[in-house]
Amino acid sequence: MAITVSVGSGKGGTGKSMVLANLAALLARQGRKVCIVDLDIGGANAHIFFGLFEPQRTLTHFLTRETENLAEVAHTLDSFHGLQIIPGTGNTLQTANMSYQEKKRLLRALEGIDAEIILMDVGAGTSYHSLDFFMAADLQICVTMPEPTSILDFYHFLQLATIRKALSCFLSQSEVSKTLKQQHFQTITEVFEAAEKIEEGAQRIIQKQLQSFHPLLVINRVTAGSKLNTLKLKNIASKYLGIYLPDLGEIPIDEAVAKSLQAYMPVCEYAPGADASLALQAIAEKLTKVVDLFLSKR
Ligand SMILES: Nc1ncnc2c1ncn2[C@@H]1O[C@H](COP(=O)(O)OP(=O)(O)OP(=O)(O)O)[C@@H](O)[C@H]1O
Ligand SMILES: [Mg+2]
Repeated sequence: MAITVSVGSGKGGTGKSMVLANLAALLARQGRKVCIVDLDIGGANAHIFFGLFEPQRTLTHFLTRETENLAEVAHTLDSFHGLQIIPGTGNTLQTANMSYQEKKRLLRALEGIDAEIILMDVGAGTSYHSLDFFMAADLQICVTMPEPTSILDFYHFLQLATIRKALSCFLSQSEVSKTLKQQHFQTITEVFEAAEKIEEGAQRIIQKQLQSFHPLLVINRVTAGSKLNTLKLKNIASKYLGIYLPDLGEIPIDEAVAKSLQAYMPVCEYAPGADASLALQAIAEKLTKVVDLFLSKR
């Protein structure tokens, strides 16, 4: 079974799809069997990074049950080291209102994909779709930009993701779940206290669930002038959400990225020596280590 890695962010346009396309290409170049799944409902565009225009087979075919076999809608990109991609889908009724069962069906179908690593683009924002797909993966990557507004959105995203993960410990009709859904929480301690009041031992259950949640941090569009205090961000996430954010790396703002998009290629393929490509290369190497560590423990 493949390891699944999701890429998410709070704000739109932070570079998730760019990071995902490049990491996929770099891992495939290393000889890994990689598949991209574009779950950015309504904003799917990962296929464009590989010059795959108007793909005939997309996730829509699976979601509308034209096929039960997800592998049938995967495209193999021979010019990108045999990388596979399942292109996303338009904002059709089925996808926009995907039920819990439909999400489960999709996640189960991913298990049948012939790949070592599945990279999922979950789109921006804090909709249940984004959060659920983001949290369903074995590993999470977060892409944020150094601006304070982007960091704030990112923190808000993490906060909701953490609370949603906590909720997933309990049946949706349980008292804990019903109560937690109705309240607004600032910190994980508040969640613990509220849950524990209803069900003894709830805090321990949530803590156990959150133990494996260490979103890997990528800061994109870094400039010489941007003064992101990553340490502060990490301290706040640790203090209020109880989560640790390991660094995956930083990517500088680089005009080669826009040029590569115009050439419909990931920048690491278009301009391997560009600053952004070198940074992505280092991130891919680090990710490989994290993936291998995860696989060795499985
Ligand atoms: N490091 C970078 N240097 C320069 N331009 C960049 C960089 N990263 C991303 N961009 C540009 O920013 C734009 C947004 O990137 P991308 O589409 O990957 O973001 P996204 O987070 O996937 O957006 P959305 O939330 O809409 O899906 C693109 O035009 C891309 O070329
Ligand atoms: Mg995107």
